Amino acid sequence: MKQYATGAPAETVAVTSSSDVVTARQMVRTLAQRSGLSLVHQTKLVTAASELGRNMLVYGGGGVVRAAPVSDEGRRGIFVEFTDEGPGIPDVELALTDGWTSGNGMGLGLSGAKRLVDEFEIESGPGGTTVRIVKWGR
Ligand SMILES: Nc1ncnc2c1ncn2[C@@H]1O[C@H](COP(=O)(O)OP(=O)(O)OP(=O)(O)O)[C@@H](O)[C@H]1O
Ligand SMILES: [Mg+2]
Repeated sequence: MKQYATGAPAETVAVTSSSDVVTARQMVRTLAQRSGLSLVHQTKLVTAASELGRNMLVYGGGGVVRAAPVSDEGRRGIFVEFTDEGPGIPDVELALTDGWTSGNGMGLGLSGAKRLVDEFEIESGPGGTTVRIVKWGR
């Protein structure tokens, strides 16, 4: 993923409980509103962020969500990064398959999140997982 110019310093939320996922979701919603994303785009971004925040909590043992407004060639968007120091995802391609879960989930969080945003990348290893997303506005 390209390193986009940020319009403001990143905001962060440490996630160690479900209520922190809600806080992170609200932070992302507020940034998206400020950047002028349409309600539909806000909702897609917030839904993706919610799934990724929940995964970070459930499988990664918690972590940090960082978000910032970004711009590129005159368009504005929101960048969000989810970092945990959990066990990592052994097979990222498999984890992105619709319906695949290692636990009791529906296996739709990662694949759904990917479809809801414009840019999506996962870096994962035994030291943890980082997921980065960008949603461009309109
Ligand atoms: N941050 C993470 N660290 C380790 N493993 C992860 C992480 N995020 C996802 N995974 C793995 O990827 C699988 C697929 O994730 P996904 O969000 O698609 O499904 P789920 O969380 O199992 O179910 P759902 O999100 O539909 O409730 C998970 O079951 C888990 O094994
Ligand atoms: Mg999930």
